[in-house]
Amino acid sequence: MNRDQLIIFDTTLRDGEQSPGASMTQSEKVRIAKMLEKLRVDVIEAGFAIASPGDFEAVKAVATAVRESTICSLARAVDADIDRAGEALKPAESGRIHTFIATSPIHMKYKLQMQPDQVIERAVHAVKRARNLVADVEFSLEDASRSEHDFMCRIIEAVINAGARTINLPDTVGYGEPEEFGRMFSRLIEAVPNASKAIFSAHCHNDLGLAVANSLSAVNHGARQVECTINGLGERAGNASLEEIVMAIRTRKDIMPVDTRIDTTHIVPTSRLVASVTGFPVQPNKAIVGANAFAHESGIHQDGVLKHRETYEIMRAEDVGWNTNKLVLGKHSGRAAVKARFEELGITFESQEALNEAFTRFKALADKKHEIFDEDLQALVSDVRDSM
Ligand code: KIV
Ligand code: ZN
Repeated sequence: MNRDQLIIFDTTLRDGEQSPGASMTQSEKVRIAKMLEKLRVDVIEAGFAIASPGDFEAVKAVATAVRESTICSLARAVDADIDRAGEALKPAESGRIHTFIATSPIHMKYKLQMQPDQVIERAVHAVKRARNLVADVEFSLEDASRSEHDFMCRIIEAVINAGARTINLPDTVGYGEPEEFGRMFSRLIEAVPNASKAIFSAHCHNDLGLAVANSLSAVNHGARQVECTINGLGERAGNASLEEIVMAIRTRKDIMPVDTRIDTTHIVPTSRLVASVTGFPVQPNKAIVGANAFAHESGIHQDGVLKHRETYEIMRAEDVGWNTNKLVLGKHSGRAAVKARFEELGITFESQEALNEAFTRFKALADKKHEIFDEDLQALVSDVRDSM
């Protein structure tokens, strides 16, 4: 299959930071941005320049420090926002202004209190103003998943004519369902006459736990950029997680139409950095980056993995930045894993009887303790030797 490149747009420093309690200092943002550059993220949304003097300085500092990724600042479709974003992006090697306005009936009526035609006019004006400052302009239809198809066609056609080259369709409130959300992309790409001049992008929130599924469905229906965050950090239940999207695409390249440029071996170190800077720990069972993501405890699984890793592993732990996979010794572990661990520790038994005794003692201990560590095994072996 001929695969396109999928643009990975990371918004950890903007939408991720909007997670209550996750705000970051300028130097923390620069550290994370440098790590994202190493990860080979295509676009880094560094902040919302008008939000505060600190955010303005942070966007500027990231735009100065990072040379290999495009640096982006968010801006409402308001002159002052766009000018501030343009100013903050001046040091960037490659800068993008990301401007947005809501397009759903509920947002236009209650939040914006504007008529649809006024919204189109404002959007076109914003894109033109941004194009006077940078060549690369992204336009988002906020709350796209609850917006009307015909209205979206009109506004998308108008902003592309005004110079937008990325059209982002956010599932702002995490309302989308994969099949329906994906179809929204293929229908719009087909219906908008000048759609081929722009890249369509998905930006999904995780209120129903569907952010990654919705993003992948959008890709299968024509999106060629996804917006995501490290560890799925973000407003409310978070954004689509970068590591899950990237590894799903890589692991299922047999059916996915795209590739990414991401150097996946930097995923775990980046996840750790974001967790330590924000103070948001990663849950142990989190896909890819959770402590248990490559750990096996049950005897059947451990035996399978010892015989051939692919029996229970669809990815290699080393490919995402772990040192190795992990066989955790606990009450579900079987003889094969315990014996293999003894061998790794250089422990040998004089007789089969001694090994059997060690295994019996291991099981008794595992009933009392969640995890058996190397020190436990060593103590257990000297007890066996003393008793024989
Ligand atoms: O969720 C959203 O709609 C956003 C936009 C500003 C892109 O974050
Ligand atoms: Zn968002």
